Amino acid sequence: MSLSPLRKQAKAKIIRVGILGCGAIGSRIAKSIKTQCDDQAVVTALFDINPAKAQHLQKNIPYKNSVKTSYPKLLESCDLVVEAVNAADTYQLVRSALLAKKDVLVMSVGKFIEGESIFKLAQKQGVRLLIPSGAIAGIDAIKAASLQRIDRIILTTRKPIYGFVDNAYIKEKRVNLSKIKKETILFDGNVREAVKCFPQNINVAATIALASDAKDKLRIRIVTSPEFKVNSHEIEVAGEFGRLVTKTENVVCPDNPKTSYLAVLSAVRTLKEYFQGVKIGT
Ligand SMILES: NC(=O)c1ccc[n+]([C@@H]2O[C@H](COP(=O)([O-])OP(=O)(O)OC[C@H]3O[C@@H](n4cnc5c(N)ncnc54)[C@H](O)[C@@H]3O)[C@@H](O)[C@H]2O)c1
Repeated sequence: MSLSPLRKQAKAKIIRVGILGCGAIGSRIAKSIKTQCDDQAVVTALFDINPAKAQHLQKNIPYKNSVKTSYPKLLESCDLVVEAVNAADTYQLVRSALLAKKDVLVMSVGKFIEGESIFKLAQKQGVRLLIPSGAIAGIDAIKAASLQRIDRIILTTRKPIYGFVDNAYIKEKRVNLSKIKKETILFDGNVREAVKCFPQNINVAATIALASDAKDKLRIRIVTSPEFKVNSHEIEVAGEFGRLVTKTENVVCPDNPKTSYLAVLSAVRTLKEYFQGVKIGT
């Protein structure tokens, strides 16, 4: 069927997506581009510091010859970068993408807790930095509420004991996880400390901090118990707008028991709205 000249003009550009980090989240997002965003986007580039991960993902998506041998080659081959790495230099990787005038979806939000300079760079370069809400509810309301006075924000993250097994802070504090028999607070403090002590667990805290612009009012509690079977995040905010309480009880991502499934779904939804040029909520 041929399109009328007007329809042809209105036909949206197909966005070329580059996946940086082909682990659990990068792989899920790459597969979802086909199932959820087929008319709007294609995966044109995959890069992982472990080439076997990129090659494995290549076999599971319908886009041919996407594996790139370096990050600069990925940047040459896409319009939008999906950052899904667990790297020490994530900040620099995202910075390079912005300098190359690529839009970026950021998953490792904890690395951007002091994000002002990277936000300024995105603005200067005329590109977009997308941060999905992740495994929590209420980011839309927190963004709106933070235009006026915020009195307090408390995030209580509850996770099963196995979610902390490899955590360096827990080891350093000599917490014997196998001896925990009842609900136990592992951490109670500010967001900067929380992100340092629980880098793999607490991207949600960083997302709230960025959305609220009220880092200093944000208190993070991390709790475990043998009774906990799922990861849950409860948020309480009070301020000039009133008070809100939200709670998510998350099932884990089928590919990675350390990641909540909702975090991946929220990234895919963010991309879908970006491709469609529609933004629902605040
Ligand atoms: N925002 C959220 O709600 C949320 C939720 C869960 C996880 N995360 C974050 O998303 C990121 C990815 O999580 P995941 O579960 O997919 O992790 P993963 O370990 O399954 O995958 C990460 C991949 O990145 C690759 N990698 C590491 N350094 C790299 C580099 N310099 N260049 C290219 N590839 C590199 C690894 O080889 C691996 O394949 C982590 O930082 C995690 O903390 C965010």
